[in-house]
Amino acid sequence: MASNDAEFKPGFWGWLNKRLPVAQFMRSQLLEYYAPKNFNIWYFFGSLALLALVMQLFTGIFLTMFYKVGDTTSFDSVEFIMREVDYGWLIRYMHSIGASAFFIVVYLHMYRALMYGSYKAPRELLWLFGMFIYLALMAEAFMGYVLPWGNMSYWAAQVIINLFSTIPVIGPGLVEWIRGDYGVADATLNRFFSLHVVAIPLILLLLVALHLVALRQSGSNNPDGIEIKERRGSDGKPLDGIPFHPYYTVKDVVGVGVFLLLFAVVVFFVPTFGGLFMEEANFEPANPLSTPEPIAPSWYFTPYYAILRAVPNQRLGALLLLMAVLLFFFLPWLDRSPVKSVRYRGWWYRGFLAVFTVSFLTLMYLGLKPATGAYVTAARVSAIGYFAFFLLMPLYSRWDRVKPVPERVSFHA
Ligand code: HEM
Repeated sequence: MASNDAEFKPGFWGWLNKRLPVAQFMRSQLLEYYAPKNFNIWYFFGSLALLALVMQLFTGIFLTMFYKVGDTTSFDSVEFIMREVDYGWLIRYMHSIGASAFFIVVYLHMYRALMYGSYKAPRELLWLFGMFIYLALMAEAFMGYVLPWGNMSYWAAQVIINLFSTIPVIGPGLVEWIRGDYGVADATLNRFFSLHVVAIPLILLLLVALHLVALRQSGSNNPDGIEIKERRGSDGKPLDGIPFHPYYTVKDVVGVGVFLLLFAVVVFFVPTFGGLFMEEANFEPANPLSTPEPIAPSWYFTPYYAILRAVPNQRLGALLLLMAVLLFFFLPWLDRSPVKSVRYRGWWYRGFLAVFTVSFLTLMYLGLKPATGAYVTAARVSAIGYFAFFLLMPLYSRWDRVKPVPERVSFHA
């Protein structure tokens, strides 16, 4: 239906469109938006990240109806949700496992960008918004983790907040300001609740909106790293593009189906996922006198945690941790390659991407282990691999013998 026709339709649809350009919006954003025709399964994860976000908001709202913030009430109210509230266990499992699912999806989403050079011009800002989303997501997950006031909640808060004490001069004062008390206490829990439930979700929603507007402005990259906007037919449409709707709406529904199936299997059959998605220590109430052994953050933070503990000096460790996260921001400018996709890059980039992948996964594993003996040595070697990927990129991305990039995307039905 032409957008301007919608206004003249009889009934509610016409009434609505005269007042709000719904049809026009849907048409311009879905039917007339041409996306590259060669998307593969790596392109599922953006829409799945959206789904995960909506799911977290939805389940979070219901949890908040029964959760009672406070150092004497939080733990018990979560137990109440699990045992007494109708389907409370389902909502809580969906929310806490949803956090892990969100990170799996977002990590795969980011990895796709590394493979296909999606952070490179003209998508630098899209990438930066993505990175700010990633930071907000980490803050959101960390604060959410503290809310059940289990023993790992308490000790995780203790360790992470104490990292700020390594900042010269203002560190100790800053730690006290964050906690709102001389130790992790009721005041800390209350402010984390407020930030987790109100402030950070608002920031996340704003950032996701900006991320999508920036995506729409530059258009999607694709597995060949070719700008489809540069080659248009006589009708002005990109030759290598297809309308987002129905082609990608249908494709995304398949991704959603597979995701929900896997998610349901975990929620119903293996909710703790062997202690990875929900740690044993968090089924006990917070206890300042009993430290869980070892204190380990959730799996999605363990690569950074392993880097923190790879060096004996805590200040240096905290600095490396900060660097490990912030280096991602600079990727668009560290990468000097004339091509985007790994398909047309040479062995230098492929080799370093492999080193990064193995290092990141090894660090993820090591962060769950105690920081002793061979584990520390392995963490040091992996940290070198991790940093080498970023810091040497301006060199090896220039040395790389890239292959000629075809003019049109490769597509196999
Ligand atoms: C709440 C979290 C996020 C949501 C809802 C989200 C949503 C999306 C969507 C719907 C797309 C288009 C579909 C696709 O390409 O898969 C996209 C593309 C993209 N996102 Fe995200 N995103 C999120 C987080 C991130 C993060 C953390 C990063 C990186 C730091 C990132 C970087 C990118 C890039 C580079 C693209 C373009 C990829 C390409 O065209 O090849 N996003 N995002």
